[in-house]
Amino acid sequence: PLTPFHTCNGVLHAESVPLSDIASEFGTPCWVYSRQALESALDEFQHELAGLDALVCYAVKANSNLAVLDVLARRGAGFDIVSAGELKRVLAAGADPQRIVFSGVGKTAAEMELALNTGILCFNVESAPELERLNAVAGRLGKSAPISLRVNPDVDAGTHPYISTGLKENKFGVAYDEARALYRQAAALPHIDVSGIDCHIGSQLLDAAPFAEALDKLLVLVDQLASDGIALHHIDLGGGLGIRYSDDDVPTSVHAYLQPLLARLRGRPLRILLEPGRRLVGNAGVLLTRVEYLKPGEVKNFAIVDAAMNDLARPALYGSWHDIVPVAARAGDAAKWEIVGPICESGDFLAHGRQLTLAEGDLLAILSAGAYGMAMSSNYNTRPRAAEVMVDGAQAHLVRRRESAEALYALEQRLP
Ligand code: LLP
Repeated sequence: PLTPFHTCNGVLHAESVPLSDIASEFGTPCWVYSRQALESALDEFQHELAGLDALVCYAVKANSNLAVLDVLARRGAGFDIVSAGELKRVLAAGADPQRIVFSGVGKTAAEMELALNTGILCFNVESAPELERLNAVAGRLGKSAPISLRVNPDVDAGTHPYISTGLKENKFGVAYDEARALYRQAAALPHIDVSGIDCHIGSQLLDAAPFAEALDKLLVLVDQLASDGIALHHIDLGGGLGIRYSDDDVPTSVHAYLQPLLARLRGRPLRILLEPGRRLVGNAGVLLTRVEYLKPGEVKNFAIVDAAMNDLARPALYGSWHDIVPVAARAGDAAKWEIVGPICESGDFLAHGRQLTLAEGDLLAILSAGAYGMAMSSNYNTRPRAAEVMVDGAQAHLVRRRESAEALYALEQRLP
């Protein structure tokens, strides 16, 4: 089958729409998402989980555009949120509160209150003081807070240190050895309702083994808790399944990821929750950009494009690789290009040394940019954030207008 981004008559398309048409209509830089790609990524999970008591809670942080949330919600997804802002977003996109879990190490009392009044499915609690605070806030509201403890299973996810979260040295979760005692405390709190157990070991994992290792550790705890008289109703395995960024990546299929997990859970009366982010949206989006200037040099050739590190921070922040392809290939000799943005920093690069045939005005697509792209963008250099477009078959819908410069300083004031 054709991937949602494919070349047809020499031009890169999103579904049936040429990316060159999108650039003409909406300008560049511009994020382009494929509805079909979002849906089929979610369907892969739903297919594996068919017939089971399971809920896929999309990790909203990866891409929080309302249209993305809406497409996923209509297809049965729930949501994993990490802030009041994300909670308001998913509600604006029509989410069912009973399909929302709330993660994060720093939930404020105000955020807890909003989530309790909304009636979310579960708080993924990450520390003893957070548990205390949640109990107090719930008590004040006359409510009971459903919780799981995010347990840190101390497994090495083998991914980039900035996005590896399941090791002892990370700030996330409750230490494995302390979890049992904290569960007992939780069970004794009047406004806490112990519901499940949770973990998240890292992001962009290409290997399935660490997930099973983490689950094995969690199941030992589940059994210990059962003998303590604490019966859990669900197990949340977090997110982290990686995607293809380059030909060097061979991501685990959703099937190969889930089968060992489902095998371990068979026969246990535990509802299964998952929190995939990147895997649902990463390959469903590209960043479309135009070459402004070519600056060939003695040591390096620079292609200055109209997208920058404020749009896609991942290369500058993590040294991440994104494939970059011309929207329409041109004839001529290829050269090695540094693909850089207009921002006044040497760190403002999107890629190093790419073999491409380029001319001023050419359109480039930066691939696999649907996850942690727009969501991590900023307004550095007073650059309005790019427009977002979602393609659905032959239709291209503007799902976020390009920001205006005026809007960027609208909240500011000169001194009286
Ligand atoms: N659940 C929790 C508690 C998380 O912290 C995360 C991601 C996820 C789920 C979703 O993980 P995913 O399935 O997307 O791997 N900005 C980085 C990635 C940071 C991930 C943070 N936590 C990047 O651009 O690679």
